[in-house]
Amino acid sequence: MLLRYKKAYEKIAMGLLSYMPGEKSVKKLQETIHLYETEEDWQLYLLKQDEDFIGLAGIILEADSYTVMHLSVNPSFRGEGIGSKIIEKLGDLFPDLECKSTEDTESFMKKCRQKEETQEDE
Ligand SMILES: CC(C)(COP(=O)(O)OP(=O)(O)OC[C@H]1O[C@@H](n2cnc3c(N)ncnc32)[C@H](O)[C@@H]1OP(=O)(O)O)[C@@H](O)C(=O)NCCC(=O)NCCS
Repeated sequence: MLLRYKKAYEKIAMGLLSYMPGEKSVKKLQETIHLYETEEDWQLYLLKQDEDFIGLAGIILEADSYTVMHLSVNPSFRGEGIGSKIIEKLGDLFPDLECKSTEDTESFMKKCRQKEETQEDE
């Protein structure tokens, strides 16, 4: 289940965000969380599985697209398709918008697109 960020999730969100390259210092993490808390077009989502928050995605929403700025999965759950599932769920939330990536998220997103194309071909 993909849940929209709220203040009660701050610590778990910062923990997950800290796996992103460029989000290593507490100061940078606080600045990033602040953007998601205050800017309307910055939206943060957490993936909850059973009782645990195991992944996170942060996007900037625009009129006809959204850009995946942050994406991270708890290391204990990696390699199980959770990262691709989060990208898929974002697509379900915003079916009419184009999905864009940043330098940080591009290579994984490209991998997700390739996986989708392979599945469609089967
Ligand atoms: C990137 C990340 C979200 C993937 O989550 P995940 O749940 O393990 O992803 P999935 O299980 O859906 O996919 C795993 C596949 O993606 C590949 N992969 C992982 N990180 C990748 C990256 N940065 N670029 C390209 N492929 C990547 C894995 O090698 C694996 O490949 P395989 O299926 O051929 O074995 C996770 O590794 C993570 O949190 N990394 C730290 C945060 C980070 O660096 N984010 C920026 C990149 S989005």
